[in-house]
Amino acid sequence: MPGVDLRKTAAALQHELLEFNKSHPRSAECYRQGLEHYLYGAPLHWMQQWPGSYPIYVVKAQGATLEDVDGHSYIDFALGDSGAMYGHAHPATVKAICTQLANGSTFMLPTEESLWVGQELARRFGLRYWQVTSSATDANRFVLRLCRMITGRNKIVAFNWNYHGSVDETQVELDAGQRMIPREDVHPNGTDHQQTTRLVEFNDTAALEEALSHGDVACVLTEPVMTNIGMVPPEPGYHEALRNLTRRFDVPLIIDETHSISTGVSGYTGKHGLKPDFFVLGKAIGGGVPIAVWGASEEMAKRIWRVRPHFKPGDPINHYGFGGTLAGSALQLAALKATLEEIMTEENFTHMEKMASHFEVGTKAVIGKHQLPWHVTRIGARTEYLFLDHPPKNGGEAHLGRHPLLEAYIHLYLLNRGILLTPFHNMALMCPFVTEADVVRHAVLLDECILTIKETR
Ligand SMILES: Cc1ncc(COP(=O)(O)O)c(C=O)c1O
Repeated sequence: MPGVDLRKTAAALQHELLEFNKSHPRSAECYRQGLEHYLYGAPLHWMQQWPGSYPIYVVKAQGATLEDVDGHSYIDFALGDSGAMYGHAHPATVKAICTQLANGSTFMLPTEESLWVGQELARRFGLRYWQVTSSATDANRFVLRLCRMITGRNKIVAFNWNYHGSVDETQVELDAGQRMIPREDVHPNGTDHQQTTRLVEFNDTAALEEALSHGDVACVLTEPVMTNIGMVPPEPGYHEALRNLTRRFDVPLIIDETHSISTGVSGYTGKHGLKPDFFVLGKAIGGGVPIAVWGASEEMAKRIWRVRPHFKPGDPINHYGFGGTLAGSALQLAALKATLEEIMTEENFTHMEKMASHFEVGTKAVIGKHQLPWHVTRIGARTEYLFLDHPPKNGGEAHLGRHPLLEAYIHLYLLNRGILLTPFHNMALMCPFVTEADVVRHAVLLDECILTIKETR
């Protein structure tokens, strides 16, 4: 139980919805028009899944601030669900992409700038060889295919309540009897998950060992900290066991740092000395331009070249099954360079982490004051609260700490008062432009919000 009065919460949500409708008439009109030509009223169905009656329509966003068509201004802790983690319209990104746009944006040819980026990715994350895609979903899909190519095996191992983008093999969950079933709301898309996937709980090394022991696993795909079902931190020794087991069974290990890059300049991998075979990073790395990168160790690259050697003039043109016409474009590389060189700096991360730490302390104080059975987890610049009294051990347990009604109410209460939390999570990201006053404002409003729905004992 989340420790608040759920009847009061339902009534309070209705009140907040009325307030939202009253104060967002222009967004209401935009949404009415949007429903005419967008399947779910907006260009992406998730845009409809904010806590109000309809999305707020954005006029502009700068740094940590976002403004809507009704003239409201928000402190943005959602930051495009990580896509704008380093702040909106960062001057370094704007300058780099405007310059590149004026010189052409896509040629199916590399630029000299790409050379520095390749070197920097290798230096920062420790893997030697890199490719660029247009989304983290794509990067994951391509790496899975490569792992199958080099191992000759078909199954992937993933973790219960993972999210790695719309990767078909991962659209599964464990039911109450620990059997793997297709995710309830996602069509299996022709994928026979019994052939493609083994799903285990995070932090369960015995289950992982069993899953790997059949000799049919092409790779393990994981986040270093689960972030898409609340946050599930690894237990002490878990990463070491994961690496040892994957090595013992000769199974490539893919670490997807798309969210956990909030840890610091070289992600959780750099900070904790992980040694993945493949590494995936998307979203914020492009400063808002659609990009992801994936890296391969030298050993994995050699195995890839054995099955798919370098092209020579006169060879038939190959498809390999990965790529994308706009992937690796000059525009992407210019944005990537700006992010790596000027934005993902120690200085910025120091500020982001300091603000996140204040956010964590402030939120914990409110939870403590009201004696709620909730807890807060933070990885670097990313903080999340979950309606459980302890950090969950795995995805299954974390799922029990979700409460859609309560989440909707808290999110809408904050939104109506000028704060955006990330929809689908109780998550706040700190960008380099956020201030201490912004963080304090969240704690004050959360306190007021909880007072409206507290149980009367
Ligand atoms: C860990 C992780 N990997 C990959 C993705 C997919 O990213 P994109 O939607 O940009 O393809 C996500 C999206 O939330 C994610 O959280």
